[in-house]
Amino acid sequence: MSATLTLIAAVSADGYISRGSGVPWCLPADRAHFRQYTREKWLLLGRRTYEEMLGWFQPGHHPLVLTHEPKLIVPNGKAVSSVPEALRLAEYQRELVCCGGAEIYQAAISHAHRLIITEVHEILGHGLAFPKISKSEWEPVSRRSQAVDDDHAFSFEIVIYQRVQRLDLAA
Ligand SMILES: NC(=O)c1ccc[n+]([C@@H]2O[C@H](COP(=O)([O-])OP(=O)(O)OC[C@H]3O[C@@H](n4cnc5c(N)ncnc54)[C@H](OP(=O)(O)O)[C@@H]3O)[C@@H](O)[C@H]2O)c1
Repeated sequence: MSATLTLIAAVSADGYISRGSGVPWCLPADRAHFRQYTREKWLLLGRRTYEEMLGWFQPGHHPLVLTHEPKLIVPNGKAVSSVPEALRLAEYQRELVCCGGAEIYQAAISHAHRLIITEVHEILGHGLAFPKISKSEWEPVSRRSQAVDDDHAFSFEIVIYQRVQRLDLAA
C-alpha cells in the first residue's frame, strides 16, 4: 500500500508561486479550498513554508517537514530528509498532500499522482516557480472557475490534473 501524493499550489499565469516570501494573492475562495482539501490530512512541506504556516495547522494535520536539520521539532509531525522518506512514513495513509514551497514541489513532482493547481489569472513577472506541467505527462480532469468580484481581485480556475496513464505496448 502507498499513499497517493498530491501537489496543491496556487500558480500565476506565468508559472510563479511567490515573489520570494508569502503567497502573492489574497483569494478567500482559494484559501477555503486549500483549508478544506488539506483538512485532517498528512502534509509535506518545505521548512520555509512550514515556518510561514506555523499557527495555521489544525488538529488532525500531520506535517512532514523536509529539512537538512534532522533535529527540527515538529509538533504533531516529523522532520524528514527526502520525499521518499515522507512517502514511506505515509505508507498507510490514503493521501499525502504536498503544500510547497518551490524547492519541495520541484523535489516531489516526479513522485506525484495528482496536481491541484489554482491557476491565477495574473502575471507576476518573476519569483519562485512551480515546475513546468508537461501536457504529455499530465491531463486536466476537472476545472472550476472563480470570477473577479468584491473579494477577489483576480479570477482563477482550480484545475485537477492526473498523471497520464501510459499503455505499455511492449507488454
Ligand atoms: N503559491 C503557493 O501555492 C505556495 C505554496 C507554498 C509556498 N509558497 C511560497 O513559497 C515560498 C517558499 O518556497 P521555497 O522554495 O523558498 O522554500 P520551501 O520549499 O518551503 O523550503 C525550502 C527548505 O526545504 C528544505 N529542503 C529543500 N530541499 C531539500 C532536500 N532535498 N533535502 C532536505 N531538505 C530540503 C530546506 O530546509 P533547511 O534549510 O531547513 O535544510 C530548504 O531551505 C514562500 O514564499 C511561500 O509563501 C507558495
